[in-house]
Amino acid sequence: MGVDTILTDGIVPAQLRQRPEALLQVDQLSIDIATRDANVRLVDNVSFGIGRGERVALVGESGSGKSVTAQALMRLNSRVKLSGRVQFDGKDLLSLSNSQMAAMRGQRMGMVFQDPMSSLDPLMTIGDQVAETLRIRGVSKREARQRALDVLDELKVERAAERLDSFPHEFSGGMRQRVVLAMALVGEPDLLIADEPTTALDVRVQERVLDLLDEISRRRSLAVLLITHDLGIVAGFADRVMVMYSGRIVEENEATLLFAEPQHPYTRGLLEAVPRADITVDRLRSIAGAPPAPGARPSGCTFHPRCDHAMAMCSSVEPGETITPLGARVRCHLYGAG
Ligand SMILES: Nc1ncnc2c1ncn2[C@@H]1O[C@H](COP(=O)(O)OP(=O)(O)OP(=O)(O)O)[C@@H](O)[C@H]1O
Ligand SMILES: [Mg+2]
Repeated sequence: MGVDTILTDGIVPAQLRQRPEALLQVDQLSIDIATRDANVRLVDNVSFGIGRGERVALVGESGSGKSVTAQALMRLNSRVKLSGRVQFDGKDLLSLSNSQMAAMRGQRMGMVFQDPMSSLDPLMTIGDQVAETLRIRGVSKREARQRALDVLDELKVERAAERLDSFPHEFSGGMRQRVVLAMALVGEPDLLIADEPTTALDVRVQERVLDLLDEISRRRSLAVLLITHDLGIVAGFADRVMVMYSGRIVEENEATLLFAEPQHPYTRGLLEAVPRADITVDRLRSIAGAPPAPGARPSGCTFHPRCDHAMAMCSSVEPGETITPLGARVRCHLYGAG
């Protein structure tokens, strides 16, 4: 593998592949925050699209900007300044009024946050919490309760009818995560943004929750942006993967190709850190060093201090985006374009 990646038999070149119609289109999104001394760029010129019903994963180490990006798409963080363009179903989200945006969030876009407990009100019944989005929209109490029940059934919450009147503390972690998913799905959104939806759960429960999400996404043709630092959980779920490093997308490709032929040294490093049945744990490698803080990014390629393949130019010239013959969108000097 290297600069001259050869087209493998049977793999359709990127230009010929059918892309689903874009539901979400993000163009050159940057996210800045004003600190006491300076303006700090948390996310820098990120572009990507998500098709209807498509499942896309956004992966990267802690602090790479995944959650900040997710919040920006939903316009949930008023402390940051957004620039660029975010279009959802043809609507320019960054120019909507706050109330128009709130309606979008309730009806077209759902989100599950990194910490499920913080999304649940300990004093409100599960049924009322799941039904709340619908009630705000003016749906009758009876219908909202029925639809809450339907979505909890869809998420395979056993004895859902009885449990509508339970409180969050009566549920296990996995069940609480299903409730949080139900809250996001009850309004029948077209896009679900799930930020580390299973991180707090044990591995088997994690798999179960992702399987359910997989089923629902296929049944409803629901597009999903799955955010995680764990490439291992992405493999069976995502159609496409975007790898984020220090506020930039450094590689993107169809999931099967990204796993088979990772191009960016960072992606390769992440993959080597994923436990696999065929590799013993003591051979597992993690990438040496840590990502830079957003206010102290190195010049050139921000990954160069940690990169085994770094060349002289990597410390001074920022790599542009190249599309490799396998269709990877990659920012790395190993692949040409400066
Ligand atoms: N309100 C804020 N003020 C200043 N910096 C912030 C703020 N929110 C996030 N950051 C910084 O932005 C960067 C990206 O944070 P973000 O939470 O998006 O990372 P992440 O990729 O979601 O990481 P994790 O895997 O830990 O959830 C981090 O360096 C973080 O410290
Ligand atoms: Mg995060």
